[in-house]
Amino acid sequence: MLARIPSLPAGWSLARANATRLPFQAAGFDVVLASYLLHLLDRPALRRAVGEMRRVTKPGGRVVTVTPVAPRSCLGWPYQLTVAALAQLSDNSLGLRGMDPRQELVRHGLEPIKARYVHRGYPSLCVLARANAA
Ligand SMILES: C[S@@+](CC[C@H](N)C(=O)[O-])C[C@H]1O[C@@H](n2cnc3c(N)ncnc32)[C@H](O)[C@@H]1O
Repeated sequence: MLARIPSLPAGWSLARANATRLPFQAAGFDVVLASYLLHLLDRPALRRAVGEMRRVTKPGGRVVTVTPVAPRSCLGWPYQLTVAALAQLSDNSLGLRGMDPRQELVRHGLEPIKARYVHRGYPSLCVLARANAA
């Protein structure tokens, strides 16, 4: 994905890193985003990754997460059945496992201030959280 980035605005840069060990100083960013990542991690890695997101966000800064969720329609139960069947093939149900990260955000001092379900494309949950001062 990094190789496909055509060009960046002046002063921007890309870094490749493990989300559980970010190579950035504490409180260095106003906004931190994890898009379709957290649901792929096992529980210990999820804890470390959200902890890292919190660590690198400035107090008062924002954290945004986007994760898949089951559709909130009559398609919900077939989706859940499919995801459960895929769980037999792969730990993360081939990336379709639904996830609401809000409990984990709160655990790390990130206060969810807005959540929106999006039903276009992958059914997803977008959460906006504020990093409260420690
Ligand atoms: C489903 S893709 C989402 C890509 C992009 N964020 C988006 O929204 O389109 C998941 C990405 O997370 C990356 N990934 C998985 N585990 C990771 C980890 N521990 N640290 C950093 N990236 C990871 C994968 O390599 C993959 O590029």
